[in-house]
Amino acid sequence: MSQLFTPVRIGRYIAPNRLVMAPMTRSRADSDGVPSDLTVAYYAQRASAGLIISEGVFPSAMGKGYVHTPGIETEAQVAAWKKVTEAVHARGGRIFMQLMHTGRISHPSLLDGATPVAPSAIKPEGQAWTPAGQVDFVTPRELSLLEIADVIEDYRQATRRALEAGFDGVELHAASGYLPEQFLSSGSNQRQDLYGGSVEGRARFVLDVLDAMAVEAGADRVGIKISPEMNYNSITDAAPQETYAYLVEQLRGWGLAYLHVTLFGAQFDYHAQLRPRFEGAYLIGGGLTQDSAESALYEGKADATVFGSAFLANPDLPERFRVGAALNAADRSTFFAPPTAKGYIDYPALAAAEAA
Ligand SMILES: Cc1cc2nc3c(=O)[nH]c(=O)nc-3n(C[C@H](O)[C@H](O)[C@H](O)COP(=O)(O)O)c2cc1C
Repeated sequence: MSQLFTPVRIGRYIAPNRLVMAPMTRSRADSDGVPSDLTVAYYAQRASAGLIISEGVFPSAMGKGYVHTPGIETEAQVAAWKKVTEAVHARGGRIFMQLMHTGRISHPSLLDGATPVAPSAIKPEGQAWTPAGQVDFVTPRELSLLEIADVIEDYRQATRRALEAGFDGVELHAASGYLPEQFLSSGSNQRQDLYGGSVEGRARFVLDVLDAMAVEAGADRVGIKISPEMNYNSITDAAPQETYAYLVEQLRGWGLAYLHVTLFGAQFDYHAQLRPRFEGAYLIGGGLTQDSAESALYEGKADATVFGSAFLANPDLPERFRVGAALNAADRSTFFAPPTAKGYIDYPALAAAEAA
């Protein structure tokens, strides 16, 4: 029997199926980080997901790392997001906001000239996506202890505003080499104070941010995304198995809604290591197919399964899986394209596809 279409508890909510839409940056907000009505339509089209996790949203302007990404800092941003959550709820869906602070994976041209911040002043390899195209990353500025307290407070306030905008919960983006993973990982965190050094020190920022989010939303409306050993955006860690086991161990008893683990290319079986350490819903993602998702659920390896590009290209992904229909292919050339409908809200649903 299919497991994908059985209900599952995710924190405070019961999702009607185990298909979660992955957080995906689409770069279609205006230059003030305000989502448009296209974004309302995009998420509303995908409301049949058990849970939608929004694209990465910057909690404060210093967290912005790409052109045309949205924020949750200003009144205009909150008002625009409210339209999104209302449309998703009107179609019976649930939506969490992903809070994404890119830290050193930004550029002064995205930050009104300010230098990106990080745990340590270590320049990442690679290039930032700026209004002037791709340019080399710069050496970030090390956050002081007082500034770290401010960033944690930014996440708390962003959580409050996300709830005000009608989101059902919030996810901390602690993957993909952005600020939280910069703190977690030994290659980007060479601090010798409370927020660095040992694994206890390196994990402290993530735990403090999650605590601030949970204070605001209740732990059962907070999730966290990690991707051990994905090594994206110039991240390296000397002992990732130890780092992630410690982090997840610390979360025991918090009552968080979910742990979202995306694996790409890791040799080590992190799911086997982490799942028994976490008592909330365990979400897996990264290159899943309907079959592999079904098997993982059947074997008890996960509580829910997260789909990225398949959801991007198939607004009715659950229905397509249910009836065994073919999938639309995702068009990479329109993944990030301000602010156009093409490749955003024009992927056909089944009935429309059949009629065409
Ligand atoms: C266009 C695009 C944008 C993405 N943006 C984000 C993001 O903002 N935050 C995030 O955590 N992951 C992001 N990801 C990664 C996805 O959440 C997911 O982990 C990844 O696509 C793997 O799942 P898939 O193989 O089902 O696509 C993005 C992926 C894609 C394709």
